[in-house]
Amino acid sequence: MKGIILAGGLGTRLSPLTRITNKHLLPVYDKPMIFYPIQTLVNAGIKDIMLVVGGNNAGDFLRLLGNGKDFGLQHINYAYQKGEGGIADALSLAEHFSEGEKVLVMLGDNLIGGNIKSSVAEFEKSKKGAKIILKEVPDPENYGVPVFKNGRITGIIEKPKKPASNYAVIGIYMFDNEVFKIIGKLKPSERGELEITDVNNMYLKKGRLSHSILDGWWADAGSSIEGWFETNKTVALYGANKMG
Ligand code: G1P
Repeated sequence: MKGIILAGGLGTRLSPLTRITNKHLLPVYDKPMIFYPIQTLVNAGIKDIMLVVGGNNAGDFLRLLGNGKDFGLQHINYAYQKGEGGIADALSLAEHFSEGEKVLVMLGDNLIGGNIKSSVAEFEKSKKGAKIILKEVPDPENYGVPVFKNGRITGIIEKPKKPASNYAVIGIYMFDNEVFKIIGKLKPSERGELEITDVNNMYLKKGRLSHSILDGWWADAGSSIEGWFETNKTVALYGANKMG
C-alpha cells in the first residue's frame, strides 16, 4: 500500500503564524508538524510515500525532509497542489504515484499518540473498498461526523451544526484505487473544495466503507490556534506515535 500525506493549503486558520511559512512546517513541541504523520506511516510499515505540498513555501519541505533520512527512508516523492482545491483535489495529484495500488491518505496536520498498524493490516487483507478511523471527541461539530443506525454508519456529515454522534472521522483514510475515479465525479462543496467526506459517502452508498476506532489520543493541529497549542502540550506530556 502506498502512503500519501497531504500538506497543501494556505493554513489561513493559523494566520499570522502561516503568513511566511506552510502550516505543516510549524513546530509541534520539538519537531516540525510534518514529521509526525510521516512517522505514523513509517510505523505502519508504509515506506513508499508521496507528500502533496502547496503554497508559497513548498521548496522548504525539500530542504527540511530531503530524501527522508530522518525516517530511515530511501526517498520521498513530492507533488505540488496549486490553490486551495481541498483534500480530495490534493489526493487526485497522487494518482500516477499510486500505480493501481491501495492508498493510505493522511492529513499533514493530524497527529496520533499511538499507531494504526492493526487497522492497516485489516485493510490490507480486504479486496475492495475504503476504511475510515473514528475517535470520540468533545467538539464533533468541527469535523466530519458519522451518523449511526443500529451500530452501522448510515452517513457522514461534514461539520454538522447538530452532530448526530460524538465521533470525528480523523484524517487517516484507506482507499482502493477506485478512489481516483470517484474524485473525478465530485462537485465542489459550499466552501469551494472537493471534500473527502463526499468520497467516503460514495463508498458508503456502495456498501464498501468500513471503520475502526482509534486507540490513544488524536489531534488536528491545524484547525485553530487553540488546537495547535493544545497539540503541542499533548505531545510534550504524552509523546506521539508510540508503538506499544
Ligand atoms: C478535514 C475533513 C474532516 C475531518 C478533518 C480531520 O477537515 O474535511 O472531515 O474530520 O479534516 O482533521 P478540515 O481540516 O479540512 O476542516
